[in-house]
Amino acid sequence: MNFELKTLSLPAAAAHKCDLLVLLVPDGFKPEADALSVLVARALKAGDLETKPGKLLSLYAVPGISARRLVLLGCGKANAQAVRQAVHALAATLRAPAVKHVGLVFATAAEAGSVAAAVRAMADGSYVFTTTKPKAEPRALARVTLGVPAERSDVQPEFATAIALVAGIEYAREWANRPANHATPTLVGEAAKALARHAGIECKLHGPAQVAKLGMGAFLAVAQGSEQPLRFIELRYGGAARSQAPVVLVGKGITFDTGGISLKPAAEMDEMKFDMGGAASVLGVFRALAELKPAINVVGLIPACENMPDGRAVKPGDVVTSMSGQTIEILNTDAEGRLVLCDALTYAARFKPAAMIDIATLTGACVVALGGLRSGLFSADDELAGRLLAAGDAAQDPCWRMPLDDDYAEGLKSNFADLANVAGRAGGAITAAKFLQSFVGDIPWAHLDIAGTAWKSGAAKGATGRPVGLLLHYLLAAAEAPAAKRKTPAPRRARAAR
Ligand code: BES
Ligand code: MN
Ligand code: ZN
Repeated sequence: MNFELKTLSLPAAAAHKCDLLVLLVPDGFKPEADALSVLVARALKAGDLETKPGKLLSLYAVPGISARRLVLLGCGKANAQAVRQAVHALAATLRAPAVKHVGLVFATAAEAGSVAAAVRAMADGSYVFTTTKPKAEPRALARVTLGVPAERSDVQPEFATAIALVAGIEYAREWANRPANHATPTLVGEAAKALARHAGIECKLHGPAQVAKLGMGAFLAVAQGSEQPLRFIELRYGGAARSQAPVVLVGKGITFDTGGISLKPAAEMDEMKFDMGGAASVLGVFRALAELKPAINVVGLIPACENMPDGRAVKPGDVVTSMSGQTIEILNTDAEGRLVLCDALTYAARFKPAAMIDIATLTGACVVALGGLRSGLFSADDELAGRLLAAGDAAQDPCWRMPLDDDYAEGLKSNFADLANVAGRAGGAITAAKFLQSFVGDIPWAHLDIAGTAWKSGAAKGATGRPVGLLLHYLLAAAEAPAAKRKTPAPRRARAAR
């Protein structure tokens, strides 16, 4: 999809050639004497149009308007949220086969954030997954002209960011939406390799033998029940001096989670194809980095495998040795995400990261706690947590900080290993985070539990592409701000007494 930004007055918008012209009409719109203004004024006066976000009036073959289809679309206060809500009301229209070129015009001056929101909502509304539906109508929308009444210097950069973000979000949605037989660890590895065709990105793939050599006993234990060979994916984006400490992103890449021997019930088990949503978000971030080329170094790590029941599968009670040397009693094979992540987090230390962030569809408990609106954010580092919260708000991809008190780790004690992989049912999202925290040492770390936000269930079943927006905004801000630019990692704090 191609986006272009144009300065369009209302008379210019009326003359703009496209299949569908959409005019965003905010609260308190002051009409002038041009054809579009007159139309809007009449419709408002007659009560046929309201300016509440998403209220719309569809018109056809209006004299004086070049586009055959015209939609007058209320956008309330015209802030990012209202614009998103308004454009989402267009979704059905945006998927019409005849609508290939849309002109989306702001009737009055627009904030940069509102223009960015319009770009993202246009992409979101017109997205269709066709990979395993070859006969379905593909996305017809190929070109979007965004019209703003006057040039504002701050609009262009946010517009460019939004376009890159759309590419990243759509890459993440594509891979998360693919069924598990079309997104095996091998294929996800190839998707990462394909990203390395972009300048600035490198990709290394590690197979089972290398992962065994690295001593990733926890990751290997999850993968051992599957016929599909695991992949440990290592992506690198170099946008700054080599001496600059990178941000490491670690994405949970369970391409299908049956639960293993602790088998899940049948209902909705298909949705466990989305259990690589964290991995997909890492791929999406790299896709966006390739477009934007910000001055920052980023490493992406993805432990990818299936979690299957099998004669060779890991069993409840088995004890494995993680790469860190800590032994783990696997009491529930369905708590596999933390097992693949813990070894990836240990591996991450070799990059001496400025910060590391893991992203995982980790717990049903997080869905219970926060629903589908906000991702769960866990971090002992107030600065990092603050930056991620702010990035989530800026990207309309919000998260919510959860506690990490040490007492929550009580339930992870084991009589047979250094720690157990599950605690009781209570506070399940937090105990999962506490498990991961045992593997991060002194590196500033945050964990995003995206179990509720990575995909939607029901009629709108499908991947959301979250939290690519949050992560990209965080990285772009870090590229500007000195804290992430420090050449050496943060001063090591003395390890708390054990
Ligand atoms: N992938 C699931 C988490 C999940 C469940 C995400 C439902 C979205 C919806 C994860 O691997 C898992 O099975 N977690 C268990 C942990 C439990 C065994 C401690 C869970 O949440 O039930
Ligand atoms: Mn599981
Ligand atoms: Zn899982």
